[in-house]
Amino acid sequence: MTAARRDRRSARGSTRGRALVRWFRRRARPLPWRRHPDPYRTWVAEVLLQQTRVEQAAPYFERFVRRFPSVRALARASEAQVLKVWEGAGYYARARHLRSAARRVAARPGGALPRSIEELEALPGVGPYIARAIASLAFGAPVVALEANGLRVAARWSLERGDVRRSAVRRRLERRLLAELPSRSPGTFNEALMELGETICRPVAPACGRCPVAGRCRAYRELDDPATLPRRRGHAPRPLVRAAVVALEADGRWLVQPRPRRGLLGGLWEFPGGKIAPDERPPAAAARELREETGLAAPSLVPVGVVRHAYSHFAVELHVFRGRLARRVPPRNARARWLTAESFARRPRPRATEKVVALLRATAHRSGGGAPPGSGSRPGRTRASAPAAAALRRRRSPPRGTIA
Ligand code: ADE
Repeated sequence: MTAARRDRRSARGSTRGRALVRWFRRRARPLPWRRHPDPYRTWVAEVLLQQTRVEQAAPYFERFVRRFPSVRALARASEAQVLKVWEGAGYYARARHLRSAARRVAARPGGALPRSIEELEALPGVGPYIARAIASLAFGAPVVALEANGLRVAARWSLERGDVRRSAVRRRLERRLLAELPSRSPGTFNEALMELGETICRPVAPACGRCPVAGRCRAYRELDDPATLPRRRGHAPRPLVRAAVVALEADGRWLVQPRPRRGLLGGLWEFPGGKIAPDERPPAAAARELREETGLAAPSLVPVGVVRHAYSHFAVELHVFRGRLARRVPPRNARARWLTAESFARRPRPRATEKVVALLRATAHRSGGGAPPGSGSRPGRTRASAPAAAALRRRRSPPRGTIA
């Protein structure tokens, strides 16, 4: 083959690559980031999609870009404003990084996202995948952007039996895909690969009958069950963390505090509380945590119920207590605040805290002290708490509330 012919072929990509791109152009789902695409929207979408499934990410994406429609708008926002809009999407470091990166981008001459992979990767929260996704989807760079869905498709296409979590295996798959990449539409090829993985080449029960490239897939042609690739390792059970949480009330306000900025759920606001020691009972842990974190002691702490919430690598079981002080006393933690429920609801809060608030509202009649401060969550912001409260109401006379 002549060099010119080879160049022409590589510009068009493989037959399989072209078939995939044709299928995507006909069948791509009308996802919100595919409307009016621009580099900023592509970036936000890829950050959200890295740890969130498409159906879950779509409403968060719409809310985020409505509130922050451009790099400049995001760069101008405070961290708390950004976290509040991100609330519920999880993995909050993504939102903090996105804002820091937007500030850096806004400070560049012209205020536009850089185009090169090296410069993109230098931004906070932009790793090799997101840099390649932005470079190819938004700027047409001829690179392969491989996330979990694309990896699965690539492993099945080439009957890859290695562990796709190993970097040597990933590099091998990436090299093979690069040879198939139509260099005129690399972004479409990358997005099509993900789309195929999400809608057809699924982890279990792939719909090979509907696959546009099944005839060119080695797993389909050579295996009884293509879903056996890529090889999976069983998930370790999620460890359970037990914690005690205290809703301390005085003058119609709750005592709440932000979590440390670094680390899990950094910067989000919650009630005082912490881990229950292995040989400790929840009421003792609640009193101890309140004392250690705020320097305050409540005359009596009343158990309200248990809230459960699962994170990706562990689950929490929060034993919730209610306490009351005759008046507001300054807490030791200088960042803690006595807030009305409305003001607390405006701060960014973890999902588990939303559930705690729902539990407090649903059990207010049993506290003996009237309703909790204010009304709890804002209207329209109760996705997590409303079903939980409704579930509580459905139980006839729960001995103790439980929110899962
Ligand atoms: N997963 C990651 N990026 C995606 C995209 N642009 N479309 C669909 N799924 C994705």
